Amino acid sequence: MRSEKLQQAREYEQAELATIEESTRPVFHVTGAVGWINDPNGFSVYQGEYHLFFQYHPYSTFWGPMHWGHVKTRDFVTWERLPIAMAPDEAYDNKGCFSGSAMELPNGKQLLVYTGVSECTEADGTKADYQQQCIAIGDGVDYEKYVANPVITTSAIPSGNHRMDFRDPKVFSKDGKYYLVVGNRTADTSGAILLYCSMDAKSWEYVGVIDRSNDEYGKMWECPDYFALDDYQVMLTSPQDMLPKEGCLRAGNKTIALLGHGDGLLEFQRESVQPIDQGIDFYAPQTLETTDGRRVMIAWMQSWDTCNVGHDDKRFFGQMTFPRELRIVDGTLRQTPVRELASYYTDCVSHSNVAIQGDCVLEDVCGKVYDMTVTIRPNADMNWFKVNVGVQGDYKTVIKYDATEGMLYVDRSCNYNRRELPSVCAFHVTLDQQALKLRMLKDKNCLEVFVNDGRWCCSMMLSEGDDARGISFQSYGSAEFDVTKNGVERNGK
Ligand code: FRU
Repeated sequence: MRSEKLQQAREYEQAELATIEESTRPVFHVTGAVGWINDPNGFSVYQGEYHLFFQYHPYSTFWGPMHWGHVKTRDFVTWERLPIAMAPDEAYDNKGCFSGSAMELPNGKQLLVYTGVSECTEADGTKADYQQQCIAIGDGVDYEKYVANPVITTSAIPSGNHRMDFRDPKVFSKDGKYYLVVGNRTADTSGAILLYCSMDAKSWEYVGVIDRSNDEYGKMWECPDYFALDDYQVMLTSPQDMLPKEGCLRAGNKTIALLGHGDGLLEFQRESVQPIDQGIDFYAPQTLETTDGRRVMIAWMQSWDTCNVGHDDKRFFGQMTFPRELRIVDGTLRQTPVRELASYYTDCVSHSNVAIQGDCVLEDVCGKVYDMTVTIRPNADMNWFKVNVGVQGDYKTVIKYDATEGMLYVDRSCNYNRRELPSVCAFHVTLDQQALKLRMLKDKNCLEVFVNDGRWCCSMMLSEGDDARGISFQSYGSAEFDVTKNGVERNGK
């Protein structure tokens, strides 16, 4: 039976959707129909299609009681909107259906696993929000929450660990059993990832702690994901309140990949910790394995530190990154936009071996929606090289390679924006065969930069006017470069 709350939310979404111009949305990035979205949830294959749910508050462009929005796709570019999957309509989730995951069950149904948040009374009478793990089962459109929810209560948290931060279950199966990795905090108040096991996805047992922050990589570890990739076992997580490491890790709520080896369950020897994305707007990534065996990741393209500024006038707020294929090469994570994007290319423009010393614009290299690769081959006298995108008059976003420092800067401080926001991402990069390859996915107000075939990535939301179509190049000292710019179009838009 569909609750009144869910029915209302579905009707509200439909009515609002009809009043929002499609042309106000990005072309190849997922947005919510209306209101607010955050984390991707339940990114998974179901009956041969890719489903994506997300944290959703349709009623305003600010965070509120979480619903699960829902879309699906066959190619990660064209998405079909589906009705809202879940509303916070039960006593155990009435403060929100927080993040979680999904998978196809052997009986053809779709399992959703999520964190139900509700207010509970502690033994001493004080009130606290409890986070407990719940399930819902459905057919790809409608879902029924399990009668015996929550399936993992706070009593299944190891003693000494925190009971208020226990969320974001990611489900997977292995050797005929179901497993969940869940974020939690240990007694030192920093993050840990717990493992649970079940034979039927309903009755769960605590197995142990897979890895923990030890107060080194932020506090609460949110949104874990755990999978094997290229001979490694990988844990992705989004730590809150990170401290920075110059040129490598940014402060705030950021994301890290833990690379190691193990049995894919409790045994995990961590070998390295790497930032996933150096940008301001990248959080809570989640992955799936495609039907042809690729590990594909999507993330929320926003930041908890800036998401409450300057969008009062918008109808919808928050979007996803473009999905990325993951690989591990030489012990480091590599990310490249999913190859399906190439089917949407239009108006390809290429210039090769362009000599530059100073300023340069190139014929037909402009636009607002594109996938552009610039390969820079610096000469010995080159100090820096800039690609300016979204240029309109004095306003622009600057991607600057500083050869003397070996740093890349992605800088939105000269955007068309009346607010002071954190604006500059700076990180160390190295040349590959004497060249730096910058691939830029730009979709109106968002930019994802992939450096040297995805060795480093940087995602950032931009503020620019409708006519910010300019692209220009500048260097201090001399260099040679190539450009290939593919416009991206969907349904003729
Ligand atoms: C991460 C997060 C999750 C939580 C959700 C609530 O962005 O804080 O830990 O489940 O957002 O919307």
